[in-house]
Formats: sequence, C-alpha cells, structure tokens
Amino acid sequence: MQRKKSYYITTPIYYPSDNLHIGHAYTTVAADCMARFKRMQGYDVFYLTGTDEHGQKIEKAAREKGMEPIKYVDGIVESIRQLWETMLITHTDFIRTTEARHEQLVQKIFNKVYEQGDIFISQYEGWYCTPCETFFTERQLVEGNCPDCGREVELLKEESYFFNMAKYADRLLEHIETHPEFIQPESRRNEVVNFIKMGLEDLCVSRTTFQWGVPVPFNQKHVVYVWFDALINYLTAIGYMDDEEKFKQYWPADVHLMAKDIIRFHAIIWPIMLMALDLPLPKKVCAHGWIMLEGGKMSKSKGNVVDPVVLVKKYGVDAVRYYLVRELSFGQDGYYSEEMLVNRINSDLANDLGNLISRTIAMIERYFDGVIPAPGVAEALDEDLINAAREAYREATEKLDKLDFASYIVATRKLVSRANKYIDETAPWLLAKEEAKKERLTSVMYNLAESIRIALILLAPSMPTLLSRANRQMEIFDLSQNPSWDEAAEWGRCKAGSKVSRGEPLFPRIDLKSLESGEQPVESPGKKKVEKSQPAVPELVDIEEFARIDLRVAEVIACEKMKKADKLLVLRLRVGEEERTVVSGIAQYYSPEELLGKKVVLVANLKPVKLRGVLSQGMILAAGGDKVEVLLVDQDVPSGSRVK
Ligand code: MSP
Repeated sequence: MQRKKSYYITTPIYYPSDNLHIGHAYTTVAADCMARFKRMQGYDVFYLTGTDEHGQKIEKAAREKGMEPIKYVDGIVESIRQLWETMLITHTDFIRTTEARHEQLVQKIFNKVYEQGDIFISQYEGWYCTPCETFFTERQLVEGNCPDCGREVELLKEESYFFNMAKYADRLLEHIETHPEFIQPESRRNEVVNFIKMGLEDLCVSRTTFQWGVPVPFNQKHVVYVWFDALINYLTAIGYMDDEEKFKQYWPADVHLMAKDIIRFHAIIWPIMLMALDLPLPKKVCAHGWIMLEGGKMSKSKGNVVDPVVLVKKYGVDAVRYYLVRELSFGQDGYYSEEMLVNRINSDLANDLGNLISRTIAMIERYFDGVIPAPGVAEALDEDLINAAREAYREATEKLDKLDFASYIVATRKLVSRANKYIDETAPWLLAKEEAKKERLTSVMYNLAESIRIALILLAPSMPTLLSRANRQMEIFDLSQNPSWDEAAEWGRCKAGSKVSRGEPLFPRIDLKSLESGEQPVESPGKKKVEKSQPAVPELVDIEEFARIDLRVAEVIACEKMKKADKLLVLRLRVGEEERTVVSGIAQYYSPEELLGKKVVLVANLKPVKLRGVLSQGMILAAGGDKVEVLLVDQDVPSGSRVK
C-alpha cells in the first residue's frame, strides 16, 4: 500500500516557568491551522508541541516557590495541556524534555558528537542571561546588559564542553544560499546570514553551576546546555535512533514555526547540530513577529500578559483563533488590545460572515420553504461570484503554503464580501416579487449557499467548530467525514434539496461600550476651534525640541470608516517593519479608498490613546482649516523613513 505524503510541523517547546499567554497561543494556533489544512489536503500530518523543562530559569522559579523543579513544572505542564485542549489544538504528540525518551536521546547525541570530536572540553568565561538562557561575550552586551531583553547578566567562569560550530559555518551559508525558502521571511534570512558571516564562536554546551538538566553522560558534574537539549526534541518525538521507520516517514521536518526571538537557535545552532549528526536539514524555519501590548512585547517576566483562556470564555474559541490567525502580517509585529479583538469579531465575523449566512438562510426560508433550490437561470454576474470563489481557493492555498496566515484570512474574506455584494446586486427581494423571475431567484439562492459552503471549508483550519455549527443551520455538509480542502475548488458541489433553518447567530455582535471605559474625546482637525486670541506667531522651539518628535513616512495598507462615527477613519499603517493602527478625524474629507496605498507622515512617538475603543498609535499629519488635506509623500520614499 502506498503511504500518504507526510507533513511534519513543530512549535517551539515552551518554558513551563509560568502559565502561557496569547503570544504562545498565536504560534500554536497558527501551527494548528497549518496542521488542519494539510490534513484536509490528505497529508499524514505530525504536529509536535511540548515543554522545555530544564535549565537554570526553571530551577530558579521552582526554588523561589520552595518546590522541586519537577513538581513545579508538572503543575504548569498540566495547565498548558488544558490550554491546548481549550484552543482545540490537534497536536500529534506533546513532548516534555524531562521524559526518559528525550533525556536518553540527548545523551546519545552528546556522546556521538563528542566522540567525533565536534564537542571538546575547555575553560569558559562569559556573560549569561538566565531569562534568555543565553551566553554573550563582553562585546555583545548593550550597556552591560543582555542585548536581547535588556536585563542584567552574570559573569560565569567554568570548565565547560564546547561545540565547534565554526567548522560547519560555510556549509550552512551555502545551504541557505541554495535553499532560499529555508529561512522565512527574507528579512530574517538576511539577519541570520549576517550573523554567521560575523564569525561563529564555539558554543558552550554544558554547565556545572546548577543540576537541573540532562547529565553529560561521561561527566556527571555537567548538565547539557538547555538549548542543545531542547532542540533535540524535534528528533525525539519522531523516533530518531529508536523507531527508524517513523523517523524516515517524518524527517526532515517541513516547518519549524516560532517567533523571531529564537530564529538564530533554529537557523544556526540547530542546522549545525543536524550537520554534525549527518542528518538532512528541515525544509523551512519560519519566524513570525511578536504580539505586542502598549508597553512593549508581551512577556511572562514583565507580567503584562493576556490569558487566552479568559478570552475563549468570553468570545468563544473560533473567534479568538480567527483573531490570532488574522492579526500578524507575515513576519511583522502586531499590537493586541481587547478593543481590536472585539472590532475584528464584529466586523469580520458578526457583520460579514455571520450576516451572509443569516441573510441567506432567511431568504431561502422565505422564498423556498427552507430548502436550497437547484440553480435555474444563470446571468453574467454569477460568473464574477464563481471567479471570486475560485480565486479565494487559489489564494488561500497559496498563502497558507507560505505560512502567511493573515493573507490567507484576507483571501477568504474577499469571497465573503463578494457574496454579500452579490446579494445587493441581485436584489433577491425584487426578484421574489415577480413570478417570472423565480427561476433566476433559484440561481441566486443556490449561488449564495454554494459560496457559503466554499467559505466554510476555507475557514475550517482557523475556526474548527464553525463548520459543524453552521451545518446545524444549513445542512450542506455530510459530517460523517471531514470535507477535503479541494472540495472548495469545485463550484456546484452544494446539494440542492439541503435544508436550512434559522438558529442562534454564529457570531453575536459584541457591545463595545462595556469595554470603553478608557475612551477619550475625538477631535477632527478640520473642526478644531481656533481661539481668536491666539498669537499669530507661535512660540519658537529649538532644533533639539523639534527632534524629539519622531516623524515617519508610513504607508496606508488598510483603511476603513469607524462604525457609528461619521468623522473617523481607522487606518492601518506600515512603518518600516512595523504596523500601526491610527484613528484620524478625516472621514468627511477622504474616503478609505482614496488613502489606500498612499504614503503619509506619521507622528510615531505620540502617546497611544483610545478613540472610541480603538487604540490609536500615533497621528497622521494634515493641513488646513475648513478643508483638510492629508500630507502625502512621494511613493518612492520607503515607509519608515524619518521626516526631518
Ligand atoms: N523554550 C524555548 C524554545 C525552545 S524550542 C526548541 C522558548 N520558550 S518560550 O516559552 O520563551 O517561547 C518562545 C516562543 O513563544 C516564541 O518563539 C513564540 O513562538 C512564542 N511567543 C512568546 N511570546 C510571544 C509574543 N508576544 N508574540 C508572539 N509569539 C510569542 O523560547
């Protein structure tokens, strides 16, 4: 019998030093979305996640609680498992680095690499950042602190084992060059290449100052460096040196997914470890951006975290997953606020998708007694809708294959919007008035049901309960078997005769008011009162004062009217590598389309404020009094450029 093609995807294994937050949920949900997509395509998927339980950081956290490290992590690991259950994560295996299967493999590998001479013993002196579990040289420190997280580092001197990474540097560079898809996105690839070209130092791979780790097999005074230990999890779970057949089936991994903070471990140390083992390298190492909060990156040690379990209880698992998958543009950071989450649910899910389904059901109930009719008379307009469905399938597939999750969602949204527009264009309520148009009405209803069927399949990887919830109201799927991805490619599979019946809204609208306590009054630049008594010549400032204002060129990548606020536009801006949301009181002067793609000037270091519940991260410059003109910059100036 021929084996199914395999697909092996991993998340980082998380430190169980504290409960996880939506940043971790982002990676795990995105990888789950991929795993579900590949299963729908017929792959034999191995999806791995787990916990990274050794190291000084965990030992410290446990001791502070007066607990043995293993007892301490056991409790947190249980809550992590429950979190993934709540988020409907479909991992194939959950690996803990404290499991015997893993510790044994770490020792075997350490031994092997030592015996072939790539690991050797020497003296170590260097600066160690415990939260990052990373060594730095003096020259790498920034003002004496950790260059990655800015925290204090400690000087460590010890006899240690070292891994000779430089030996493999040229081979790795060549691999990166000949496999452009290996490190994604491209900006990260450049960062990694530059880092390697600066010269790789020997990596210290053992420690003697604490015990909580895998003992070096031939020298029990040492424990294996936690990253050397942790990376090996990707091999343990699929049976390396233990179950040859399983290993052959899944290695090399298709994707290691993570955030940019740990790309170097995965794109430099890990491939070199694999080269030392003479194993093929993973096909792709992909780093997404960070979910940020107002005060910077969300992190357990800063204490500014958002608990995904609380969000799921409030908004439901489909909505929270959808928000996460949609939010981070490929490789970029994104800001989280509950208001943005609610806005997203209301606009994309309640308004667009939810309304499309409920309007269609209501019309089929009214005009065809709740039974989807067979299509009758076709018109040119239908072709447009069919093309939109075809294009949504093509684009969603392409974007998911590139791990560009946000664009995948955007692709599905285009179909939903097109179908909503189709309702307005065909005006079924008018067709229903004339008996002669009944034939045409059957086609319109069928086409809407068919668009919904396709949209539901495309959205299934991100929202796992959507399809079955929707099917209670529109019985268009045979749920005894999961629909395959390619069923979304074929127009016309929706069975005429299927029943529909109105039920609870799939995504109830959420009242923003309850979340708006921090609201601030909104001002439109056009309507600002100019005090008559103001001096004609404003007070002079010196150049230093002016330099404190960070003006940047920003590209408008999305723009929409704020609901229920006729003066406000909500702009999404790209500022170099970053994205921002800005609320601006210019809706009376500009339509969203006019600004889309334009380059504007952003006051980038203005304190964020909430306007009608949306966090506005800056202000765009506009001129004028009664008539307002936004300042536009030539398209050739790159976004992120400083305006001085
Ligand atoms: N234990 C290591 C990984 C070892 S993998 C062999 C580790 N653990 S961690 O708990 O710190 O998790 C880091 C990962 O969590 C990030 O790479 C990312 O996948 C996820 N995230 C943690 N905070 C995040 C955000 N604020 N935003 C997006 N992802 C975040 O590093």
